[in-house]
Amino acid sequence: MDSARPLIVGNWKMFGLESALKQARAVAESLARQPARARVGLCVPATLIERLGRALAGSAVIVGGQDNHVEIEGPFTGDVSAEMLEDAGARLVVLAHSERRGCYGEGDELAARKTEAALRAGLEPIVCVGETLAERQLGRTLEIITRQTTVSLPEALKGRAFALAYEPVWAIGTGLTPTLDQIEEAHGALRHAMVERLGDSGLAAPILYGGSVKPANAADILHAREVGGALVGGASLNAEEFLAIIRAAD
Ligand code: PGA
Repeated sequence: MDSARPLIVGNWKMFGLESALKQARAVAESLARQPARARVGLCVPATLIERLGRALAGSAVIVGGQDNHVEIEGPFTGDVSAEMLEDAGARLVVLAHSERRGCYGEGDELAARKTEAALRAGLEPIVCVGETLAERQLGRTLEIITRQTTVSLPEALKGRAFALAYEPVWAIGTGLTPTLDQIEEAHGALRHAMVERLGDSGLAAPILYGGSVKPANAADILHAREVGGALVGGASLNAEEFLAIIRAAD
């Protein structure tokens, strides 16, 4: 665990064919020429994990996947286990993203079980929480994200490398972002919930901010209190934009 260095992770979601690998290569080449202060990862569709690993061989960029089943293997057509992601070369995995919560009804208990599965396979989980716009407007943000954090983070995380990502649902893919005060307020509440839940391990793990992180707002966000990095969607598909965000943490 290297909590002193920020963690900046690209989440490609369901985007990316062979042709997208050149963006990842460009990121890796830039980091080889000029190392970044941040640890950098790319969480790509399962179909690209092995190819990304080959494209990035010897690079500092960490390969990751998105979502994993709770079981090692079984009759679960269309699903991928944490062991399969690891076998393909992943070291990180994004879990409980609001698109999983929203599109597939995944809740906090399932998030905890998926996180345990990721740890079982030796992956570093990035567990996402965040409020909807309606919840924020009702003044329930801190209550919602505290509950999500407390239930989604299993005890098994004690002593293990992981990250929590605060991703307000209304900021994802919209170009909207919370104010820095709102980010700091949320991250402060999350830190408190993590420490309550996991003790020292909850103190050491970074809290990433995610939701419309762009080159123009990255420096402010990355230097906000209790922000230990970023989870970047759209901008991570473009090497120039992703690199600008990575450099904003230097
Ligand atoms: P965005 O996505 O950067 O495109 O808003 C963030 C995320 O969903 O992780």
